[in-house]
Amino acid sequence: MVTCIFLIILVVSLANKTTDRNKNIFILGGQSNMSGRGGVVNNIFDGFIPPECQSNSSILRLTKGLTYEEAKEPIHQDNDFFAICGICPGMSFANFVLKNDPKIGVIGLVPCDVGATNISQWSQGSIFYNQMLNRTWTLLWYQGETETLNDDAKLYKSRLYKFFTDVRDDLNTPSLPIIQVALASKFGPYTEEIRQAQLETQLQNVKTVDANGLKIGPDFVLLSTPSEVQLGQILANAFLGFGSARNSLEVID
Ligand SMILES: *[C@@H]1O[C@H](CO)[C@@H](O)[C@H](O)[C@H]1NC(C)=O
Ligand SMILES: *[C@@H]1O[C@H](CO)[C@@H](O)[C@H](O)[C@H]1NC(C)=O
Ligand SMILES: *[C@@H]1O[C@H](CO)[C@@H](O)[C@H](O)[C@H]1NC(C)=O
Ligand SMILES: *[C@@H]1O[C@H](CO)[C@@H](O)[C@H](O)[C@H]1NC(C)=O
Ligand SMILES: *[C@@H]1O[C@H](CO)[C@@H](O)[C@H](O)[C@H]1NC(C)=O
Repeated sequence: MVTCIFLIILVVSLANKTTDRNKNIFILGGQSNMSGRGGVVNNIFDGFIPPECQSNSSILRLTKGLTYEEAKEPIHQDNDFFAICGICPGMSFANFVLKNDPKIGVIGLVPCDVGATNISQWSQGSIFYNQMLNRTWTLLWYQGETETLNDDAKLYKSRLYKFFTDVRDDLNTPSLPIIQVALASKFGPYTEEIRQAQLETQLQNVKTVDANGLKIGPDFVLLSTPSEVQLGQILANAFLGFGSARNSLEVID
């Protein structure tokens, strides 16, 4: 049900680990709405790839085997192998950033999905966390549905802060830009607590965009293809708005 993902964008030649550190990288992590279920009905992906999500030779993706290839929807399938993946916000995000910042160069997407996770499982030292570290630069984060289900919700804010802080500490990048999506779910009874924690996040260089108003698909649970496209563009706009915070990454490195 709940799925986590990572998406990283590298700016330069991607097939070289040693030069990765010079790049502008984004991670997109979270649950199934981030992994992408747009166009999936009855566990079958309808194959429709909107114009905003088309492949582009400037958008690569890191495969599970850690090689780079031209990204093609559904980009998360080899990591999120327990689910049928569809359209996610990633390609829309990447295309929108490319279009609006032509100087950004080559973009690489690094999916890293894990089914049915909660934020504790993303904590420092966990396997998911370690996988993320080797690929992290900017974090795009959309998670919290699981926590709306039980009264663990009241711990979400402190866990979220700790998670963000841990990522920054471990990357030695205290100003790592983070864009999180405030969920808009009727999933569980504690949605308001989670939303509040997200919307009130007061950490430097953390932006919160709102999923409120995005349309869900025919399963009544997950974002539709047009909503995933829209979310990708919302995230891209937030990223483009970071301005100098983006450029400071290379200095810190
Ligand atoms: C990777 O980058 C290093 C440092 O720039 C360079 O010496 C090396 O040739 C590159 N390797 C490949 C496979 O591109
Ligand atoms: C790739 O994206 C750039 C920037 O949006 C665009 O100019 C170019 O036409 C695209 N290439 C393809 C093959 O779609
Ligand atoms: C989170 O997942 C871990 C590992 O499966 C589990 O031990 C823990 O109870 C879960 N926490 C919540 C709040 O569901
Ligand atoms: C991440 O990098 C560390 C140190 O270079 C390495 O030991 C570890 O195996 C890597 N993990 C993954 C998932 O690639
Ligand atoms: C996906 O997003 C929709 C719309 O915000 C929300 O109602 C739904 O609960 C989310 N589902 C999951 C599993 O995250």
